[in-house]
Amino acid sequence: MKILAFETSCDDTAVGVVQDGVHVLAHKTASQIEHNVYGGVVPEIAARLHSERWREVMDACLAEAKLSIEDIDALAVTQGPGLQTSLLVGTTAASFLSLAYGKPVIPVHHVHGHVVSVVLGRKLSQIKLPMLSFTISGGHTKLHMCKNFVHVQEIGSTIDDAVGEAYDKVAKMLGLGYPGGPIVSEYAEKGDEKAYDLPRIYLAKESLEMSFSGMKAAVYRLVESAEDHQDEGFRADVCASFQAAVRDTLVRKLERAIDQNPEVQTVGFAGGVSANVRLREALGRVAESRGVEFLVPREFLYCTDNAAMIGASAYVQYMADPSVAKVQYVDANSRMVMQ
Ligand code: KG4
Ligand code: ZN
Repeated sequence: MKILAFETSCDDTAVGVVQDGVHVLAHKTASQIEHNVYGGVVPEIAARLHSERWREVMDACLAEAKLSIEDIDALAVTQGPGLQTSLLVGTTAASFLSLAYGKPVIPVHHVHGHVVSVVLGRKLSQIKLPMLSFTISGGHTKLHMCKNFVHVQEIGSTIDDAVGEAYDKVAKMLGLGYPGGPIVSEYAEKGDEKAYDLPRIYLAKESLEMSFSGMKAAVYRLVESAEDHQDEGFRADVCASFQAAVRDTLVRKLERAIDQNPEVQTVGFAGGVSANVRLREALGRVAESRGVEFLVPREFLYCTDNAAMIGASAYVQYMADPSVAKVQYVDANSRMVMQ
């Protein structure tokens, strides 16, 4: 089954063709560097660029897969959550194609896409279930228990900032640009993680809730009181100390989640922050110490927002319930909740 998938929930216009949920036949993204000067995504600009670009990104993707729309079995699109006006461009494009070509379209929850992104390039039957999924991105920091790929239950979440968002804010405070994740992790390699003792918020003893705003506020105070916050050594030490505090918090939460759910066979680490090699190492060690398999997306491209994961999500949903695929108009839903 070949699915043509669209993802436009934020600032990347992404289109992919995914066969049987795991084989990525082609993938194209147009990233919007236009937001960099603002230090964050401007919704109006994002929507305008999506609408200017989706068609050419789709054409390039289909050309790479050597397919035309007629060869596609179904469409998939991110319905939500995300920026409403960005979502609208993707859902309108997919709905138009559905109605014009008579192809069924499957609506996808963006975070479900991240959860299943670890299946891409792998064999579905070889992934041991239940899977505990840690989805950590710019908008979400979630723990899910997945009995299978469609029964996904939230067991923990951040109560304030998402981890990726905290990385982005730290980068902004230090004047390092946007997005913050890659640059902060690069600086962290050169710094001393013991330079500053940033707060680790573990909350109640058994809690799987998380909090990162205290860490961010502590960085703000450091930057405010620094003699020269653009000093390279200072920046590196702050980044290293911040990343260590994030790491320790995530490690503690993953340990708790596995210990509270001993039936877990696999831990999946997904979302933009799963591109971070040091966090992968630390969470991988937790899984290993408990005899649990550890999976991260097979390619870095599948960590950050992409359309391949949307195709994978649509496929597993379709296999569980073919009625999800309909010739239809899909409404964008910026506050969509996972079923
Ligand atoms: O999944 P994603 O593309 O978008 C959302 O759904 O939010 O995640 C983007 C986030 C950004 O906050 C970015 O700073 C973060 O992922 N990120 C990283 C790294 N690469 C991207 N965070 C930490 N380390 C990285 N290497
Ligand atoms: Zn995302």
